[in-house]
Amino acid sequence: MNSMQRTSIGYNNGMSPTIAGSSSPATGRGVSTLSLRTLLPWSLVVLVWLFVGVCGISSTTTTTTTTTTTENCLQLFDTYSQGVYVCQHHSDLIVALQIAEELGREECQRAFEREMWNCSSFSILRAPNVTSLATKEAAYVHALSLAAIAHSVAKVCAVGDVTSCSCDTERLELPATDSERRYAMGCSDNVGFGLTFATNFLHKRHLGVGPLQEIERENMRIGARVVQDEDEPPYVCHCIGVSGSCTVLTCQYELPEFSQLAHRIQDYYFTNRTCKVRWNNIVGEGSAFVRPPGCGDNKLIYMVDSPNYCVRDVVVGSLGTAGRKCDPHTTGPNSCENLCTRCGLGHVSIEESTESNCWCEFVFCCEIRCSKCPERRRYHVCT
Ligand SMILES: *[C@@H]1O[C@H](CO)[C@@H](O)[C@H](O)[C@H]1NC(C)=O
Ligand SMILES: *[C@@H]1O[C@H](CO)[C@@H](O)[C@H](O)[C@H]1NC(C)=O
Ligand SMILES: *[C@@H]1O[C@H](CO)[C@@H](O)[C@H](O)[C@H]1NC(C)=O
Repeated sequence: MNSMQRTSIGYNNGMSPTIAGSSSPATGRGVSTLSLRTLLPWSLVVLVWLFVGVCGISSTTTTTTTTTTTENCLQLFDTYSQGVYVCQHHSDLIVALQIAEELGREECQRAFEREMWNCSSFSILRAPNVTSLATKEAAYVHALSLAAIAHSVAKVCAVGDVTSCSCDTERLELPATDSERRYAMGCSDNVGFGLTFATNFLHKRHLGVGPLQEIERENMRIGARVVQDEDEPPYVCHCIGVSGSCTVLTCQYELPEFSQLAHRIQDYYFTNRTCKVRWNNIVGEGSAFVRPPGCGDNKLIYMVDSPNYCVRDVVVGSLGTAGRKCDPHTTGPNSCENLCTRCGLGHVSIEESTESNCWCEFVFCCEIRCSKCPERRRYHVCT
């Protein structure tokens, strides 16, 4: 009888692969396989929705519905060239873009929930207003967007339901055999295609050249670098063989869960791996960045200081801090001092009363009866 047993494998200093059973403490990679599992049913649901909704593919497709549904698809995007690229050439990847939108927003809002700018507008399908200026926040959003698209496309390719791409069967660089076992190539996340698609898609938002475009490209390179991080290639292997013997291992490359990549990108922002550049536009000599000494090429770059996020200005993606919840007992970024007082706002304490279940008892048979007890919650908001 054959046994299938999940094992993860990684390199130590690029030397021989190490194999860890799924019960080992190295659960990080086990988690990444879970993410693919959880991605699957959802992507299929969206896929069905897409076929019926956006692409209008149904048993009675007519010329009229095709035209209107192409228009519906085009309306998802800011620019015509971006729409054409996706709707005409890669409509099977809209599902991946929507997954990227969802995952990207979740990670951005989690990372910034305590900050002055709380990631109130994040989008991948459309350029969010915060990216209208070349700020640090825009730099983070560009890097995160590229990574999110590349990640979800690479995984959707590996699942194999789409025609735009397939899984990657090339990238495995494991030893063909060692003394005890043989390795076989599995179906890896298609990171190469994911990165190419993400780069093409995002570059079609702003065609041409100019400081904003150039800065976007530089910051997307940081996103790509994080996705491509080859320090410890996350190979996941399955044993195929007589029960327990594990003489043949099928291994494939699986990207870590997106939150891990998002954390690496937010580290650039929060640990000051950012750098302010100047755009030098000298007639006759062309234009280029001027990177100050020590800026290097492994930093998020920005050109203008952040706008005053105290003030509501939706054009630059700022909702203002009025109405934000704050913590009066801390000195951190989400303190009332920082979010309200420094913005010239006061703060009030609000008591919210709700009801919760209490005094629950088991009634024979088989019911649980509870009373409703009032519950008070107190929080502070800037006003
Ligand atoms: C961030 O680093 C730059 C140099 O890259 C430095 O000039 C700046 O003062 C640093 N900012 C903070 C808040 O540490
Ligand atoms: C983005 O800015 C435009 C004006 O440039 C505004 O009409 C729109 O509501 C803003 N979008 C968001 C989500 O705030
Ligand atoms: C961001 O802050 C605004 C208030 O300025 C609030 O309405 C909004 O719900 C917050 N968004 C998130 C994602 O927390």
